[in-house]
Amino acid sequence: MLKDFENYFENTVNLLNEFQWLFKYPVTKILVENFLNKFPDDWLQVLRQLTTEELNDLVNGKFVNGNWPPTLVSFVNKCNIFNKLPHPPTLPPTSAKLSEQLPHAFKIGLSQKKQYEILNLAKLVNDKCLEYNIRTIVDFGAGLGYIGQLLNYLYDYKVIGLESNLNNVKIAEKRQHSLYPESIEKVKFVNIKITTNDSDEEIKNKIKLLTNDEEFCLIGLHACADLSVNACKLFSKIETAKLLIIVSCCYHKLEVDDDNNFINFPVSQTLKNVINNSNNNCRYEEILHRPFLRLACQEPASRWDKMSKDLHDKHAFYVLSRAVIELFTYENNITLTKCVRKATRKSQCKNFETYLQDTIERYYFNGNSISNEGDDNKEFVETIMKLWELHEEKMNDVEIYTGLQLLLQAPAESLVLYDRYCWLIENNYLSEIVAVLSNVISPRCYATIGIKK
Ligand SMILES: C[S@@+](CC[C@H](N)C(=O)[O-])C[C@H]1O[C@@H](n2cnc3c(N)ncnc32)[C@H](O)[C@@H]1O
Repeated sequence: MLKDFENYFENTVNLLNEFQWLFKYPVTKILVENFLNKFPDDWLQVLRQLTTEELNDLVNGKFVNGNWPPTLVSFVNKCNIFNKLPHPPTLPPTSAKLSEQLPHAFKIGLSQKKQYEILNLAKLVNDKCLEYNIRTIVDFGAGLGYIGQLLNYLYDYKVIGLESNLNNVKIAEKRQHSLYPESIEKVKFVNIKITTNDSDEEIKNKIKLLTNDEEFCLIGLHACADLSVNACKLFSKIETAKLLIIVSCCYHKLEVDDDNNFINFPVSQTLKNVINNSNNNCRYEEILHRPFLRLACQEPASRWDKMSKDLHDKHAFYVLSRAVIELFTYENNITLTKCVRKATRKSQCKNFETYLQDTIERYYFNGNSISNEGDDNKEFVETIMKLWELHEEKMNDVEIYTGLQLLLQAPAESLVLYDRYCWLIENNYLSEIVAVLSNVISPRCYATIGIKK
């Protein structure tokens, strides 16, 4: 079985290698790096003819035309095949009835999205724990304690929430005292930074102490970056950890070591073998670096399902406008830094001129602000406006580019998560990846499950 994964990883990395121009740099650099010129000509001819609906369907793997250039058909088919992740639920199973299912105390301060996430993950955790007769949960990166409190409230689990941010722990405890005082004996929050290195033994012993050496299920909801892989590693090191259920996120924030290699990616020997066998023409470790992880962590294509033309136009406008500013600063050797914390007020940008004025207000150019009036400003605005006029016709191509990037997102995320899956299998655990959430609501919707046999 791991041999099949080796082939799968190799095919996926080859696909990523061939289409690096779709993800190698942030989309703001689309003009600087001239990515719109990388499209094979025959691709653009057919892709420019697509209706909005067809583009949405193409990106969502529901539309491919046999009359297209074979290289395009092959790209689309490969993106679909190399996504081995299960289909996320199209209709959130419980979101419609959230208000009926969640008690009032679980809605205070929680967005609809968070309510939906804790309810669905709690159900999955409970199903698995019932199967393996587990009554204790250890929650990695517990945040403000939402899911732990819910698991206790709905199913009476004993919960230990581990959280590195002291302020979060204080808020979680404050919420507990005011909203769920009856849980105080069974739900505890501990301020601790989870790592796997020298402090292994310390964390291991602490968890054993906190759980009274009982068997437990290790969970994490949106356990960011290294935390999710460290959770897998600690799962393996603590014998009483029987179950692992982790929803990962922020792959692009994984840490690197002194040699600029990721510490926790790849993690499986299966993917490492593939990388070690790569040749100089296609250096896999270079392909699978930060931009690849950024791609894996992007919005999923489902966000484009049934997206209106109006929204597409707006999206393309903002991407291209930002790219024009980037091109201007690049060509004139100017550094751009934000001078206010807020992002661009998109609603106020009706055309490029207003977008530019907004940028002038919000950014320093080479450390200086550009005044809104005067000759300097006039000349500056005129130069950038000319650049815009030169590129504005590329709006449709920008949207096509983003669409193809979205197509490639799923195989990228699939590779990241199946690397973790293979690691669990290699370590002799049962493993499965479950689409626990709708990715329209929660972009990172997969739970990686590990079970000790
Ligand atoms: C994306 S938040 C999710 C919080 C919570 N699970 C939820 O879904 O509401 C990730 C949390 O993990 C915590 N965290 C990150 N790295 C950690 C580490 N190494 N040890 C413990 N907590 C960590 C962060 O402080 C943050 O509260």
